Amino acid sequence: MSDLHQPFSLTPETRASLANDFIWGVATSAYQIEGGAAEGGRGPSIWDTFSHTPGKTARGDTGDVACDHYHRWPDDVALMAGLGVDAYRFSISWSRVQPLGHGDWNEEGLGFYDRLVDALLARGIRPHATLYHWDLPQGLQDHGGWAVRETALRFADYAERIALRLGDRLAGIATHNEPWCTATLGNERGQFAPGFKDAALAADVSHHLLVSHGLALQAMRATGTRTPLGIVLNQSSTTAADDSTADRALAATEYAKFVRWYMDPIFDGRYPLDPGIAHYPRNVQAEDFAIIGQPLDFLGINYYTRIWASAATPPLHAPRALGVTDMGWEIYPEGLTELLVGLHERYPGLPPIYLMENGMANADEVVDGRVADFARIDYMRRHLEALARAREAGVDIRGFFYWSLLDNYEWDSGYGKRFGLVHVDYDTQRRTLKDSALWYRETMAALRRRETAHG
Ligand code: FCB
Repeated sequence: MSDLHQPFSLTPETRASLANDFIWGVATSAYQIEGGAAEGGRGPSIWDTFSHTPGKTARGDTGDVACDHYHRWPDDVALMAGLGVDAYRFSISWSRVQPLGHGDWNEEGLGFYDRLVDALLARGIRPHATLYHWDLPQGLQDHGGWAVRETALRFADYAERIALRLGDRLAGIATHNEPWCTATLGNERGQFAPGFKDAALAADVSHHLLVSHGLALQAMRATGTRTPLGIVLNQSSTTAADDSTADRALAATEYAKFVRWYMDPIFDGRYPLDPGIAHYPRNVQAEDFAIIGQPLDFLGINYYTRIWASAATPPLHAPRALGVTDMGWEIYPEGLTELLVGLHERYPGLPPIYLMENGMANADEVVDGRVADFARIDYMRRHLEALARAREAGVDIRGFFYWSLLDNYEWDSGYGKRFGLVHVDYDTQRRTLKDSALWYRETMAALRRRETAHG
């Protein structure tokens, strides 16, 4: 560890906990980095439509160019190899491989991911693909999108196609990324594509997402693939602001809506019952929970901050002892331990877990060729400590993926929020390793040395 980064060293206990067989990765998603929106036969997705609709995103930013990864991917793979990561989590743009979401496949799009996967493998980097990171082909939205069951069937076809094409070269395939965001931010709050504000619709959408997940697992398993299959859920610990009955009830409702809404159907075969939940899906069919409850080979979890539940008017604020990120999200690493240990207790027999996203937005600037993002290093250090505590408590958590490799298109916030280990100058597409990238490189290398030293 260089002197500069010495204060950010992991404790010996954490180093011991994370030394053996732990997977170190970075994560991105298609619409946030690829660009090439109208190239290579790609069809439009709901995020193209949404981001091009005036007033929906900060400064009207779109993913048309993003990090230009569609053209620069060989350099980005080389960047990752230089960092020494074990694994890369990326998502496949459905409308790049099947422009309408039904009907014809686009060989140029499939070939793009083919080459990416081969390049990663050639560098010894394990490719973890996500099938759906929010970019539904517009051709399916035009037929009702996730509000109609047919979309779940189309998703299963798409999953099967990817399993056949990329199959055993992938180290993992996740069906959905954060279905809560698709359903709630996209269909109840109108903050994300497709931009609806209809809570009853959002409940129906969440159900079709879960059904599509189960159908996709069935379809992929039927191909005989040996690639581990799973899903990635965004989750949080929940804290009642005080010990009042109202705050504790609100905390339980928030946990039910955010965490249990997706975990219970998958692992317990039902939706959580809570008096605070206003809408249940109207579209549940008899066999659905059997479909949704397909066994998982892994569970991906994304953790950024906790949920604070205060029923008072005006609400009490979280103490925010460690401050907030540039997104305004409270920095609360203990919540990661609380969340993971809580899941371990509530759902016996969970599959191996990967932390598939964790990271912070920071107002980074390049000064004399350097980005001194110590706040991010501190965030990473604290969350790795929290993760190690969960491992020590018996949670089977096998890897950590930093969100994100690159500064990228942060959805409705556009390019203003920088989550990357690598700074991107959007005028020149120049990439600059931030100090956090150097710290991550050193940390991974030091832990591997330890592993080697201990045989
Ligand atoms: C997650 C998303 C990811 C990114 C981070 C900051 O909810 O999965 O695409 O936007 O938040």
